Amino acid sequence: MIIDAIQKRKSNFSYSEKSIEQEKLNEIFEAATLAASSMNVQPWRFIFANQNEPEFQLILNTLSEGNQRWAKDASALVLSVAQIEYTHNDKLIANAYAWHDTGMANANLMLQATSLGLVTHPMGGFDHQKASENFNLPKEYQPVLIIALGYKGDETKLPEDLIKRQTAPRKRKPIEEVVFKGSFGV
Ligand SMILES: Cc1cc2nc3c(=O)[nH]c(=O)nc-3n(C[C@H](O)[C@H](O)[C@H](O)COP(=O)(O)O)c2cc1C
Repeated sequence: MIIDAIQKRKSNFSYSEKSIEQEKLNEIFEAATLAASSMNVQPWRFIFANQNEPEFQLILNTLSEGNQRWAKDASALVLSVAQIEYTHNDKLIANAYAWHDTGMANANLMLQATSLGLVTHPMGGFDHQKASENFNLPKEYQPVLIIALGYKGDETKLPEDLIKRQTAPRKRKPIEEVVFKGSFGV
């Protein structure tokens, strides 16, 4: 059941040294690319790097210090990118849903990873300008999110503050606060 992966997914700070099997990566990216998108434009792009590859450092060094502290141990990092403009019948069209649709692909990616026994952590805390430069993104592409991927590591080895964050119960607004039957707020 899809709800199992949704309930299990949790932003994870501790990673083991185990690398991710290619077969699993293929399924993870297939799930991402099967997301719905406005006009089926599929605005998402992914720059992927295993920890032992030079591009890993190029993604890692865009992250805030607070994120680098633990994300350096991830098996892989993914920089997700949205194409915010595209050409249709020789016309340049701004895609107002580019970030939304890339977000849907990112969610699929993380849920498929979770259902394959991996852990993930999405991060917006990075230098977007630097990420664009590091990967020579064309001007119609914007960096959206960095996702840490890997197998769960021993969380007792994390610094105290991260153990606290990792083991804290997930907090959510009650359903009644976000779902309305009629007018907004009712
Ligand atoms: C767009 C986005 C940006 C985020 N940026 C960061 C980040 O920079 N650093 C971090 O530790 N967590 C980051 N998170 C993770 C959130 O803190 C986390 O999703 C939220 O607290 C809910 O916890 P859960 O993912 O475990 O359910 C981000 C999540 C999203 C969706």
